[in-house]
Amino acid sequence: MENIKNIAVFVSGSGTNLEAILDAGVPVALVVADRPCRGLEIAKEHGIAAELAERGNFGAGFDREAYTQKIIGLLQTHQIDLVAMAGFMTILSDSIFQAYGGRILNTHPSLLPLFKGDKAVKDALEGGAMETGCTIHIATPDLDAGPILAQAKVPVMPGDTVESLHERIKTEERKLYPKVLKDILSGNLALPA
Ligand code: GRF
Repeated sequence: MENIKNIAVFVSGSGTNLEAILDAGVPVALVVADRPCRGLEIAKEHGIAAELAERGNFGAGFDREAYTQKIIGLLQTHQIDLVAMAGFMTILSDSIFQAYGGRILNTHPSLLPLFKGDKAVKDALEGGAMETGCTIHIATPDLDAGPILAQAKVPVMPGDTVESLHERIKTEERKLYPKVLKDILSGNLALPA
């Protein structure tokens, strides 16, 4: 897509999707984290600009709007045109979608619309699913409900734990997410208008 030049990846944790995106040669202009995490170290190792927008408050007093405005400011400073959330664990306010609507991607560890939310792997396992997977989709104000760009299926195996199943899913995410980003950059995959 010709108008996408600068991609930002948002992380909160181990950052293995970020790592896969970088290893696949996707140009990443900025990494944003909401807490100190391995994702920031990965950015540093790759010489990529990184911003720690530390959330600090995880309680009822969290000012989601002010935090979202801070994130929008960072994106504007770095002239970002596409955001790829990769395990980013803060829900941003609707303002982010006014500023970057249709230009925010997310990866979710289930075959959406099944198992939305932050316990997707546990819910699939406890729900007795025979298969689950991952979904790359456009993020919208409705959590885990935006247009789907790509999915990969993963079997649930006997004796699976949340950890073993999540790792099998993440193995697929680490292939699919870079592919989707590359396809968008090359024009092979059009983002919904
Ligand atoms: C992924 O499974 C993603 O779908 C979920 O968080 C995980 C991030 O893993 N939202 P990592 O930080 O990229 O290793």
